[in-house]
Amino acid sequence: MGRSFEFTPVKPAAPISTPNREIRTEIPHPEDRDIVNTLRRGEPLSMSGQPLIVWDKAQGVHVYDRHGNKWLDFSSGVLVTNAGHARAEAVEAIKQTAEKLHHSYCFPNAERAELIAYLLERCVPDYLDKVFLLTTGSEAVECAIKIARAYAHTKSGPNKDYIVTFSGDFHGRTMGSQMAGGIPALKDWIVHPDPCMINVPIPDGFRGQDISFEGFLQALDRQGVHPERIAGVCLETYQGGTAILLPVDYMKKLRAFCDENEALLIFDEVQAGFGRCGKMWGFEHYGVEADLIVCGKGMSSGLPISAVMGHSKWMNIFPPGSMTSTHTGNPICCAAALANLKLLVEEDLVGNAAGLHPILEERMAHFEKKYPDHVGRAASIGLVGAVQMVKGRGSLEPDHDTAFEIVKHCVENGLMLFAPVGTGGGTVKLSPPLMITADQLVEGLNVLEAAMDAVCVPETVTA
Ligand SMILES: Cc1ncc(COP(=O)(O)O)c(C=O)c1O
Repeated sequence: MGRSFEFTPVKPAAPISTPNREIRTEIPHPEDRDIVNTLRRGEPLSMSGQPLIVWDKAQGVHVYDRHGNKWLDFSSGVLVTNAGHARAEAVEAIKQTAEKLHHSYCFPNAERAELIAYLLERCVPDYLDKVFLLTTGSEAVECAIKIARAYAHTKSGPNKDYIVTFSGDFHGRTMGSQMAGGIPALKDWIVHPDPCMINVPIPDGFRGQDISFEGFLQALDRQGVHPERIAGVCLETYQGGTAILLPVDYMKKLRAFCDENEALLIFDEVQAGFGRCGKMWGFEHYGVEADLIVCGKGMSSGLPISAVMGHSKWMNIFPPGSMTSTHTGNPICCAAALANLKLLVEEDLVGNAAGLHPILEERMAHFEKKYPDHVGRAASIGLVGAVQMVKGRGSLEPDHDTAFEIVKHCVENGLMLFAPVGTGGGTVKLSPPLMITADQLVEGLNVLEAAMDAVCVPETVTA
């Protein structure tokens, strides 16, 4: 289990004041203790994992508390506010809709229609033609699994039922999505997992995994799964704890495998989608087509909305009324999502993520060189970075304590990060809003480097 942050106000060594960061008081501010205590008393322990800054306001790339402190945001909440926090266009769209319509279940509403039309025209690849709106990423993953299996059954009967997913992948915390995930420690509670949901090794090459497609076939063989019985293969485009793209050759072979075996290839783009990877969809880096795209997070930059996108051949298999959700296409969420997507497209924030990537990439390489006793790997794609802390040079064992101290130090110095993630909680994750500028990105990376200097022993540099 990860460490939890204590409410222990810390005075800054000197007040921090830049256009992006203001730390004028103890952090967290002592007056916020009551709010934190109320939450600690009333919420389950599981809710206590994040730094204890009470967010009062967030705008653009900045987060504020009630006491004049200001953070440069490298969290985007949790990779959600891709277009920036509370952008004026989104605020206006939310206000206008909130004044007239909060809910219409599956009855038509104009906001849903506008969003669907915009998604199909500007975001969804040409070869897919349907979008089903939901609320959370987990729900969308569950829905994609349901579609893949039901579609497979129409082709070959109920024996075509395997869902193949990857070790270390995270797909959500509801029963089906957690079962699909590949992190055993999160699945203990399930006890009787679906025998037809299996994991194969992730070919990211970090913890000694085979990166050849042979490894995929061998893993099926070992588990006694005949390819023809596979209904769907579902994967995170990049793993949240690593920010590493998988080998293109592997992905092309996986695509061909799915075609040969009439299995749907499902990309979980809940994190990777909507520009985070410097392309509208992260899987575009692989040059392959998706059969189903699962997305959420960055879709609205804040309001709860997610989606499954696919082709009508499989999206239409459920008759009217049997694939719905109470809050599907909520008009306020749809209005927010539309405003957000227009910002992503019209301000070319996807291009900004791609354009700024070299800055992130260069610093990741620098971290690997500078802290070889602590950094197992530091990688990035677009505007997502992952610094994997390990217990010693050459070790593969995640170092949660060090990652935790780095995050704490950053937050105390005006850089907002969420708690470490990934296998063993060893990864410091960087995910600023995509509207960030080069100067802001560099400022944040400098704060991170100062935190790493404070917590890690750098390699002695010889002249
Ligand atoms: C790749 C991926 N899939 C699915 C989910 C689940 O999304 P949600 O928390 O909205 O249910 C997450 C959440 O972090 C995720 O990162």
